Amino acid sequence: MIPIYKPFLKNYKKSAMKAIESGWISNHGINIKLASEKLNEILNVKYSILMNNGTAATHCLYIALKYKYPNIKKIYLPNNTFITPYNCGLYEYPSSIFEIMKISPKTLNIDTSKEYIMNLEQNAAMVIVHNLGNIVNVPRLKRMRPDIIFIEDNCEGLFGKYENMYTSSFDGLLASSISFYGNKTLTTGEGGVFITNDIDVYKYIKKVYSHGMTSEKYKHDILGHNYKMTNIQAGFLYDQLKDYNTIIDKKNEIFKYYLKYLNKCIENDEIIITHKEENTIKANWMFNIIIKSINYSKFKEYMLKKQIQIRPFFYSISCHPHLSEIKNENETAFNKKITEHGAMLPSYPELSEEEIKYICVCINEYLKF
Ligand SMILES: Cc1ncc(COP(=O)(O)O)c(C=O)c1O
Repeated sequence: MIPIYKPFLKNYKKSAMKAIESGWISNHGINIKLASEKLNEILNVKYSILMNNGTAATHCLYIALKYKYPNIKKIYLPNNTFITPYNCGLYEYPSSIFEIMKISPKTLNIDTSKEYIMNLEQNAAMVIVHNLGNIVNVPRLKRMRPDIIFIEDNCEGLFGKYENMYTSSFDGLLASSISFYGNKTLTTGEGGVFITNDIDVYKYIKKVYSHGMTSEKYKHDILGHNYKMTNIQAGFLYDQLKDYNTIIDKKNEIFKYYLKYLNKCIENDEIIITHKEENTIKANWMFNIIIKSINYSKFKEYMLKKQIQIRPFFYSISCHPHLSEIKNENETAFNKKITEHGAMLPSYPELSEEEIKYICVCINEYLKF
């Protein structure tokens, strides 16, 4: 079976093993400091807090928003994303504050047309999600709407770029979250990071993520969580960060081979690849395709018979009953249907050209039926 993803860790175990041998296996230990500093340097950001998963980091985006801008009246959210940005929003705010945005069928991201963005309400925040690794040009949005507060769920967009900057690094963001889950470009199994350039936000979230403890041991003055990453996880991260260009190169190769072997179907529009926004570079996280003529369930069955694991696109928010109270007046038939026609394909760093060729031959064969 060719799985949808496999963590690529074989060269990146040294610091984690050292952490185990040293006995520093909790959040204390040198790898936490080293990985955090290395990440700041690569992304060109001021502060990062390593956390136990991307969900914790995304939750902290909302905590940061509430702390820094307590008078926000509206929070705009995209549609057809992974569940986390919705759930985390509801941990902190009533459903009445949220509104689901229009999405662009071309990018599967929010509609970023000037007409739409300029008509959004004032006193608002917007949650950016780089859906399936396709990047939203956030600096452009901020230029259009300097009044809107942007928080960025960058769990699928790491190493993508807007206006020549890595995602997470734009200083017009309040904060950004990244996931290091097992299927992510950098992985610590479970893991994530909260990023900000704002010293007050950094200090506040640093306290929130560690039980809300004051500088005096066991005295607490705010509601806190325990969202800390272990020194073992940070060891995996540090070793990957020291060699991140190798990992990016491997992922870029995979995307290049998919485009090469699916080229004919893409040219004659049998397979659609999402468009990218101007002045952005995709993150090349999961290679994904839209095939209007297919039904995902049948396609999945066929691919499984060929020993290939695939994944569907994310459902429209209206498919999740616990989110039904969130305002969703922009939903179209496209939002509801896209999951039927889209698929994520295996995209792990060690996938070989031969395996990609085989996957593409199977897809081409399926399209001929
Ligand atoms: C857009 C998005 N946000 C947040 C998360 C949550 O990250 P994690 O699985 O590390 O908790 C994910 C999942 O990978 C995601 O895709």
